[in-house]
Amino acid sequence: MISKEIEKALNNQISLEGYASHLYLSMASWCDTQGLTGCKSFLMDQSDEERVHMLKIFEYMSEVDGHGITPEIKQPPSQFKSVKSLFEMLYEHEQKVTQSIHELVDLAYTEKDYTTLNFLQWYVEEQREEEDLARTILDKINLIGDSPQSLYFIDMELEKISSSSAG
Ligand code: FEO
Repeated sequence: MISKEIEKALNNQISLEGYASHLYLSMASWCDTQGLTGCKSFLMDQSDEERVHMLKIFEYMSEVDGHGITPEIKQPPSQFKSVKSLFEMLYEHEQKVTQSIHELVDLAYTEKDYTTLNFLQWYVEEQREEEDLARTILDKINLIGDSPQSLYFIDMELEKISSSSAG
């Protein structure tokens, strides 16, 4: 059994994860139009992962007698200035998600809701990994630039990450 406040905060998290899934799908589609198939595969994987993050909260809600609400999801941008700005946007969104997870942890801690606190640990760790990955990609882009030649290598790198995480 969770409190109404925790339920509300978890539904807000569902909405953030759902938006991330939509945003990364839109980013993947834009990369496809630019011929960046490695970036596209990487972002498609990220989009799928975000949907899983959202679904895990639905499952948790069901187990603790909460009500997971399917969120309204606003349309994400479909155009991006550059690959660099796209990954900056991704990193910003991940930081926003991390902030929200930490606020949820605070709330669970204040309410002495140890079950939710335990459930959230998985997200705390996942966010650390996702922020690290986004920063690593941005570091690489900053290092070699985003000229067409550099993008060719960035695209290959992301293809590698994408295939190494598949299965
Ligand atoms: Fe599920 Fe990357 O936030």
